[in-house]
Amino acid sequence: MAQLFDDLQLILSRLVVKIRAFGFWALVYSYCGICASVAVLKLLWSIGRRPTQAFQCKIREHPPACLNDPSLGTHCYVKIKDSGLRFHYVASGERGKPLMLLLHGFPEFWYSWRHQLREFKSEYRVVALDLRGYGETDAPSHWENYSLDSLILDIKDILDTLGYSKCILTGHDWGGMISWLIAICYPEIVTKLIILNFPHPTVFTEYVLQHPSQLIKSAHYFFFQMSWLPEFMLTVHDFKFLKNLLISHASGIGRNDCRLTEEDIEAYLYIFSQPGALTGPINHYRNLFSCLPLKRHEVTTPTLLLWGEKDEFMEVEMAEITRIYVKSHFRLTILSTASHWLQQDQPDIVNKLIWTFLKDEGQRKRE
Ligand SMILES: *[C@@H]1O[C@H](CO)[C@@H](O)[C@H](O)[C@H]1NC(C)=O
Repeated sequence: MAQLFDDLQLILSRLVVKIRAFGFWALVYSYCGICASVAVLKLLWSIGRRPTQAFQCKIREHPPACLNDPSLGTHCYVKIKDSGLRFHYVASGERGKPLMLLLHGFPEFWYSWRHQLREFKSEYRVVALDLRGYGETDAPSHWENYSLDSLILDIKDILDTLGYSKCILTGHDWGGMISWLIAICYPEIVTKLIILNFPHPTVFTEYVLQHPSQLIKSAHYFFFQMSWLPEFMLTVHDFKFLKNLLISHASGIGRNDCRLTEEDIEAYLYIFSQPGALTGPINHYRNLFSCLPLKRHEVTTPTLLLWGEKDEFMEVEMAEITRIYVKSHFRLTILSTASHWLQQDQPDIVNKLIWTFLKDEGQRKRE
């Protein structure tokens, strides 16, 4: 009788797990459907208003001069062992100095770190990478090639290839997601973790499921699960949606002072107007739901989290909750007037906060 009861309990608990998994996927897919419908309506509206120009999108043939500005550093390429992919990065500061590795977000590339490349080269070898699929880095064609595991392994391999065993890891937005995961999976290679506007991944997944407002702000994660439509949407009207993300009053860079210059915008358009250039970046999101929830959560690296409170895509409440997963020194600074694009939006303040964190951590270690 007891045996039967145990069996029954086991079957029931398995059933509960299955129902929860089913609920999760049902939610993901129905929300994908809703997001896609909203996107299609927006698209039709946009095409309908100016039908003749809607399908124009110009491939930029020549990079604007700012992309080759020598004061930002030198362009380098490395082929990594495991995947054989060639990575592009821009590096400043002497080789042999401690490594500060910078991981950009979506839809960006190494150039989003231009202010930091100039600032930190006095004491560090600063490397701003183009992530897998972005810019001049190779972009494997399958969406399966962009699993979180392979994105994390890329960074570990790059460190090996550059001849470093550890680094100060800095990530913004999606690059922040990757940075958190590296700190969780390979704590031995991260001496200090600096994250801009991205919560701990577990905080994000839990918060998004409990807060419909955040679910709406994260609609693009769901919309990106579809094939080709997201890429198409970003290109209509000569990349209007892409430009709006970066410069519109609601979501863009520099509400206050540091707006993108015409040349900066051309730099972004040069990178993303190349044929197929949007597919790799969007593929980063196409494995997301099969990789979550995470099995490990703890971060044991000293961590600085900087957060622009006017972020259109991430609610600030998640920043404070992140504290519970960091089992080391954790410092959070919220910048009340900054947007999502923090390191470009308020570079002076961001650089100052990073210096202070690095110096204080150096001090703490010596004590
Ligand atoms: C990409 O994925 C395909 C199919 O899964 C695989 O054969 C190939 O080796 C992968 N390439 C890279 C660079 O990971």
